[in-house]
Amino acid sequence: MTRAYVDDVSAERLASLQEQNLELSRLAAELRNEAALRTQFLSNISHDLRTPLTAIITHGEILRDGILGELTARQKDSVGGIIGGGRQLLDMIGEILTYARGAAHQLTLTRTSFSIVSAVEQVCALSESLIAKKQLSLAVTIEPELPPLYADRDKIAHILGNLLGNAIDFTLPGGRVWINCSRGASTERGYVMLVEVGDTGIGIAPEHHELVFREFAQVDASASRQHHGTGLGLAIARRFVELHDGRLWVESTLGQGSRFFFTIPVRSAP
Ligand SMILES: Nc1ncnc2c1ncn2[C@@H]1O[C@H](COP(=O)(O)OP(=O)(O)O)[C@@H](O)[C@H]1O
Ligand SMILES: [Mg+2]
Repeated sequence: MTRAYVDDVSAERLASLQEQNLELSRLAAELRNEAALRTQFLSNISHDLRTPLTAIITHGEILRDGILGELTARQKDSVGGIIGGGRQLLDMIGEILTYARGAAHQLTLTRTSFSIVSAVEQVCALSESLIAKKQLSLAVTIEPELPPLYADRDKIAHILGNLLGNAIDFTLPGGRVWINCSRGASTERGYVMLVEVGDTGIGIAPEHHELVFREFAQVDASASRQHHGTGLGLAIARRFVELHDGRLWVESTLGQGSRFFFTIPVRSAP
C-alpha cells in the first residue's frame, strides 16, 4: 500500500465520520425541539382546560347553594356529582401541568421555615371525608421536638397529599393508613427528616417497586380498574423530593400493604 493511498482512505473516512456526526447532531436537535414542543403543548392545553372547568364548578356551586332558588334533594345530589367530577378533573389537569413544568425544568423551590406538623395536619384535613367514606382509620405519629423545616411548604404538602391519596385509594374499606415523621439518618451537614406514609392496602409486587415512580405508569392499567388517576402522582412526588436533595422509595408486600418513605435534609433558615 502506498502512503498516498492510505492518506486518501483516511481522508475519506474522516469526511464520512464528520458527515455522520453532523447528521446525529441534527437529529438530536430535532428530538430536543420535539420534546420541548410536546411539553409546551401539555402546558398550554392544561392551562386552557382549567378556565372552562373552573367556570363549570363555580356555576355548579351557585346552583347547589340555592343562590338562584332552592333545589330539591335529588337536584342537589345531581349538581353535587357535577361539582365532584369537575374537582377530580381539575386535580388531574393540575398534575399534568405540574408534570409539564417539571419536564421543562421550570420548577423552582420557594423555601420558608415551617413545622412539618402543620403540613401534615393540612393534608389530613383535606382527606378527612374520603377516609370517613371508606371507613379507614388514620394515625399520625410525629416525634416530639422536631425542628422546623426550611423547605418549599406547598411542595412538601403536595408530596404528602399524593402519597396519602394513594394510600387511601389502594386500601380496602376497614383498613389502616398512617403518617410517621421522625428524625432520620445523620449526614455530614446535619440530618434528614424521615416521613413515612403507610397503608394496609393491596400492596405492590417487587417487580413494580421502581415502575410505579415512572411517569404515567400504573400497575393495573385495565379499563376495569376502580382507581382514576394520571399515573403522575409518584413521579411528581419523587421530583419534588429530589429538588430538596431528598430520596423517595417504597417498601411493600403484595396483598399486605405499602410503606412509602421520603427524606428531606433539615437545614436552618439563612
Ligand atoms: N399505596 C399504594 N398501594 C398500592 N399501589 C400503589 C400505591 N401507591 C401507588 N400505587 C401504584 O402505583 C401507581 C402509580 O401511582 P401514581 O403515580 O400516584 O399514579 P395514579 O395514582 O394517578 O395512578 C398506581 O396506579 C398504583 O398502581
Ligand atoms: Mg396517585
